[in-house]
Amino acid sequence: MRKKIVAGNWKMNKNLEEGLSLASEVINIAVDEITPSAGVTIVLNPSFVHLASVRKLIPAGKHVFLGAQNCHHKASGAFTGEISVEMLKSLPVDYTIIGHSERREYFGETNALIAEKLNLLLANGITPIFCCGEALPIREAETHLAYVAQQITESLFHLSAEDLQKVVIAYEPIWAIGTGKTASSAQAQEMHAHLRQHLAGKYGQDVANEISILYGGSCNPSNARELFACADVDGGLIGGASLKARDFIEIAKSF
Ligand code: 13P
Repeated sequence: MRKKIVAGNWKMNKNLEEGLSLASEVINIAVDEITPSAGVTIVLNPSFVHLASVRKLIPAGKHVFLGAQNCHHKASGAFTGEISVEMLKSLPVDYTIIGHSERREYFGETNALIAEKLNLLLANGITPIFCCGEALPIREAETHLAYVAQQITESLFHLSAEDLQKVVIAYEPIWAIGTGKTASSAQAQEMHAHLRQHLAGKYGQDVANEISILYGGSCNPSNARELFACADVDGGLIGGASLKARDFIEIAKSF
């Protein structure tokens, strides 16, 4: 049975005091209102500078986990201002988002570079949340299914089946991120099913069935239920709505 996951990507928001307040609110409500038996994994992804402090708030043995928003693609060295996977492991973080479209767009990240990050995370026992998704012109040209499958081929298909099963995929259509324009459940399901079939073509259906594929892009408490009801949508990667504890928890309760 693949995991149901709701991860909050705080992006470059919240100072330390605000971040700690949001994290404690989310953790308290999550522990009170969502039982572990609901089978939902909740991941908080604050900025790097808040990770160590938020780590201390997360109770052991619960269904709330800590994630980073990025990592460097080299193990260590003269990369001023960067954060290594080894540093993340020492906190520790449980998850790390890689290949977010904002990193691809503003920092020139390629599928090959994201594969390097993925390898380092897996070698260090951290679960990668690998983001993929198409821009609007690609969807309008109706080449989106092939485009996103290619992102997966180029960043993931060097992995063994065993390692692939440690990866979480997040499909985030760029036109839906921060725009209030959510993909319809039919559009999300079409892409998620396509990606699962793409994985099955290389690794077999049993392996593909084990991979959690999250949806991201203007997901909120009003649309999460319909999205999460889709057969191949296993949760969400949430931006704006993860900055409000109550909204984020309502999304996590939407399965
Ligand atoms: P929004 O939920 O704000 O659209 O952001 C989605 C996202 O980019 C999560 O990584």
